[in-house]
Amino acid sequence: MIGFTLWFTGLSGSGKTTIADLVAPELERRGLLVEKLDGDVVRTHLSHGLGFSKEDRDANVERIGWVASRLTRHGAAVIVSAISPYAEARRKARALVEAEGVFLEIHVATPVEECERRDVKGLYAKARAGEIPEFTGVSDPYEEPASPELRLDTTQLAPAESAQLVIAKLEEIGCLGVPA
Ligand code: ADX
Repeated sequence: MIGFTLWFTGLSGSGKTTIADLVAPELERRGLLVEKLDGDVVRTHLSHGLGFSKEDRDANVERIGWVASRLTRHGAAVIVSAISPYAEARRKARALVEAEGVFLEIHVATPVEECERRDVKGLYAKARAGEIPEFTGVSDPYEEPASPELRLDTTQLAPAESAQLVIAKLEEIGCLGVPA
């Protein structure tokens, strides 16, 4: 089976990891080798020491893209969750992965107002108070994907419904073989 990378992009608190955490076990249930690359986790290892300047975010995204491409090459199902705010960096990650398999950009399109209302980690409040500089959506840019393979509106969809749409997309393009 050809490998693929699901690249979840969206604001902090948009629901990327929540949806990824529902998709992963479903793919494992279908016998795929799944690897999650989550921005928050990657930043404690592979990208330890990087900050949130454009340069550092681009380096972070490029590293994730490179690892994703290596895993995709071996037929894995790679699930990336990273804000990845810059379109050009996402394009580069796509190019790396597409040399080895399939790349699906999934925009978790939760509006900033909703992310801020949820504020699961309390970071928006801190960013508004000026305690976190360069915070995406507040004081730093997020370039929306122009033509993602999938756009999920989490104000209309429950996490399980979003996960189901991702699985359906993978089935549609033949990445899951015969439906289980
Ligand atoms: S990315 O921009 O380089 O793709 P990444 O997804 O790895 O970001 O990390 C984002 C996470 O770092 C957020 O979910 C949040 O927990 C934390 N964070 C800390 N500072 C910032 C900031 N200035 N902007 C965005 N997220 C931040």
